[in-house]
Amino acid sequence: MKILVTGGAGYIGSEITKLLLKAGHEVVVLDNLSHGFVENVPKGAELIVGDMRDRKKAKQALAGVNCVIHMAGLIVVPESVKDPIKYCDNNVLRTVSFLVAMNDAGCKKIIFSSSACVYGTSDKLPIKEDAPLRPDNPYGATKASTEAFLQAFHACFGFDVTILRYFNPYGPGRMHEPITHAIPNFIKAALAQKPLPLYWKGEQIRDFIYIEDLAQAHIDVLNLSGFNIFNLGSETGIKIKDVVDLIFEILGYRVPIADLGERKGDVHANYAASDRLKKAVGWQPKVDLREGLRRTIDYYKSQPKS
Ligand SMILES: NC(=O)c1ccc[n+]([C@@H]2O[C@H](COP(=O)([O-])OP(=O)(O)OC[C@H]3O[C@@H](n4cnc5c(N)ncnc54)[C@H](O)[C@@H]3O)[C@@H](O)[C@H]2O)c1
Repeated sequence: MKILVTGGAGYIGSEITKLLLKAGHEVVVLDNLSHGFVENVPKGAELIVGDMRDRKKAKQALAGVNCVIHMAGLIVVPESVKDPIKYCDNNVLRTVSFLVAMNDAGCKKIIFSSSACVYGTSDKLPIKEDAPLRPDNPYGATKASTEAFLQAFHACFGFDVTILRYFNPYGPGRMHEPITHAIPNFIKAALAQKPLPLYWKGEQIRDFIYIEDLAQAHIDVLNLSGFNIFNLGSETGIKIKDVVDLIFEILGYRVPIADLGERKGDVHANYAASDRLKKAVGWQPKVDLREGLRRTIDYYKSQPKS
């Protein structure tokens, strides 16, 4: 298949591109490099530098493409709380513009990187796909809005749509600075023997999914048609403070904790029920948290100190 990965110069998009190439697909990456890196794009993929709103670039990127894996977006929750318009413009309006370009090009198959943020604070755990969408922050609202547009493009134009709602991806790979994800920040602080930054005293519960397992799901759903929504998580909720303890255990030493208090827009607890995805395509996460953390620590040890 010829596949276009938007945002393929980013952290997760580049991992998906790597797996797609390995599986023998032809891959084009469209990325405006606002937060991605040319060096992230695996050899063998064609990189087109451009914004998803740029109709000329979109047309060029979509030539002969059978399926789009749509990863491009802004991802920082606190920034979205400060500037919702920026997030709505980039993640929703530019995506809709890109969907119109897809329709014009006759490419009507899309896999979309959504987020557990669409659920906000859920009444029931684990969260199932039919839980109500009540985003707690503008970033989550952009994902819920995009999902609604995808539903509309399925209904009006016959798009085949698969929505993957990621829980908390982690693992090796280059992210843009400043890094806002918890695990890399914990590891970087611990490796530098600095206080480890912790919100909510680490009482929040999250579901961490290893990047390779997450990326593999995009390959597994490639042949689906119609309109599908799947959670993508490990199905294990763990307190952040227990993740911190696991990191200390793997490292063999502890560093002090820097208590950062509470933070707007954060959800207290979420973890996924992912059995719908498992049943549909046989996807299974392979890397457990201890092994994934070990690999992530090795990755950050191998990086030049920033
Ligand atoms: N990382 C997570 O924890 C997480 C969780 C849930 C969902 N997601 C979703 O997965 C996707 C990828 O996330 P990531 O962690 O790899 O982020 P990332 O910032 O590393 O990658 C996003 C890429 O999109 C590009 N981009 C942004 N706006 C663009 C635009 N208008 N036109 C073209 N390119 C544009 C950036 O340059 C970047 O390379 C995002 O849509 C994100 O919302 C990520």
